[in-house]
Amino acid sequence: MLLAFELSGEHNTLPQSEVIACLESLKADFEIHLALDGCLVIDLKNNAHHITGILSKRLSMTHHILGVLGIGGSAEEEIPELLNNSFADFEGTYSIRVRRIKEYSGINTESMEQRLGGIFYGKGYHADLKNPDVRFRVLLTEDKSIFGRLAASIDRSAFEARKPHYKPFFYPGVLMPRVARALVNIAKPEKCLFDPFCGTGGILVEAGLIGINVIGGDMQRKLLLGAKMNLDYYNTSYSLMYGDACRMALGDESVDAVVTDPPYGRSAAVKAESIEHLLTDSLQEIFRVLKRGKRAVFVSEREIEDIAQEAGFNVVESHLQRVHKSLTRRISVLEKR
Ligand SMILES: C[S@@+](CC[C@H](N)C(=O)[O-])C[C@H]1O[C@@H](n2cnc3c(N)ncnc32)[C@H](O)[C@@H]1O
Repeated sequence: MLLAFELSGEHNTLPQSEVIACLESLKADFEIHLALDGCLVIDLKNNAHHITGILSKRLSMTHHILGVLGIGGSAEEEIPELLNNSFADFEGTYSIRVRRIKEYSGINTESMEQRLGGIFYGKGYHADLKNPDVRFRVLLTEDKSIFGRLAASIDRSAFEARKPHYKPFFYPGVLMPRVARALVNIAKPEKCLFDPFCGTGGILVEAGLIGINVIGGDMQRKLLLGAKMNLDYYNTSYSLMYGDACRMALGDESVDAVVTDPPYGRSAAVKAESIEHLLTDSLQEIFRVLKRGKRAVFVSEREIEDIAQEAGFNVVESHLQRVHKSLTRRISVLEKR
């Protein structure tokens, strides 16, 4: 079955990577059918209903998941034709939304919705924009239009409600929950995820909420207490420890995923001889505690590819995230060979 993921425009590469990593960690049998800017179409061989249900609760950088009914060209006249050619009968009322992905199409979406509504009307169906039985969407991408039936929507408001300053304990310099969740998904945790620079526990909360046991470490006791307050508030299963990320009280190959956001160079929170020592030594330590074949997602201000490779990692993905004029985060996805 073809599924289309209507990706969030907040980042160019993370949303697609998040979907693929989630499918891989669910051991889904799938192939990428089309990787478009802002929309990923995959061919899922089985369990589509079950997998869509799980993904809709896990993903943070997708808006909607559609069961694809047809794919056509993006020219205005091709869209009614696509709908006619791929129309499948259904029960009850409907709504149809036409959405432009990024700025790819000059089509007036409202008048196209009315035009497509005319086709449904001609076939005897009634629209209900507020509470339809079936919701259809047409996505206008760079050179394709995708017609599909809504299978699931992601509740993005839940991520908004967990913004750092709404949590019981707040301290500045924290990743936003949507970014933290995407990084957790990209790390493909199975049972246990470790954050050696856990601060207030923002990453741990996002992993805990998808049912992963989390372990956090930090060298500021007040932040560990804050992490405890936040983790308790969201009912997560966790262990926290005071300790240096360069010498962790964990056995070799004992965790199956790491996601971490160490302090930046200028930060007073660097508890080490220098930021260079901290990055190099913590990467070696992460390599030691991570199981073979598993992933670490490491956020930094500077390039860490060379020291990650020296520690033994394969660098499988790199993403850049511009935070503001003077800060661009590098998100390195590392795999232990
Ligand atoms: C950017 S903050 C992490 C924020 C965190 N993701 C959160 O949700 O709050 C970096 C953290 O690294 C901690 N840190 C600095 N040096 C450390 C070290 N050597 N070992 C462990 N933690 C350290 C700081 O105390 C700080 O909490």
